[in-house]
Amino acid sequence: MANIIKIMEGFSFIPRSELNLLEALESQKVEVEYQCREGFCGSCQVQLLEGEVEYTSEPIAFIPEGRILPCCCHAKSDLTIEIPGGCRMKKTSQ
Ligand code: FES
Repeated sequence: MANIIKIMEGFSFIPRSELNLLEALESQKVEVEYQCREGFCGSCQVQLLEGEVEYTSEPIAFIPEGRILPCCCHAKSDLTIEIPGGCRMKKTSQ
C-alpha cells in the first residue's frame, strides 16, 4: 500500500514509489534545500515527526536526532515531516 507524506502545515500527498523523498517533495513543487543529493552535505535535512524511512544508501552527513535526509531515503510508512523554515511551494511560470 502506498504511504502518505504529510507536511506539518497540512499539505499531504502520495509519493511515486520510484522517487526518493527529496524527489517526491520536488514533484509536488515543495521547496527543500539541497546541495549534493547524495547524503554528504546534510543541507536537505527535515524533521521527522512521525513514521519511518529507509535509507537507500548509508548517509555520510551527521544527522541530528529526529532529522532525516530526504535525498537518500524513501518512506517506509506514512510520514509526517516538518521542513525547516516552513513549507513553501515553488512558483510555476505560466
Ligand atoms: S542534499 Fe546533501 S545530504 Fe541531502
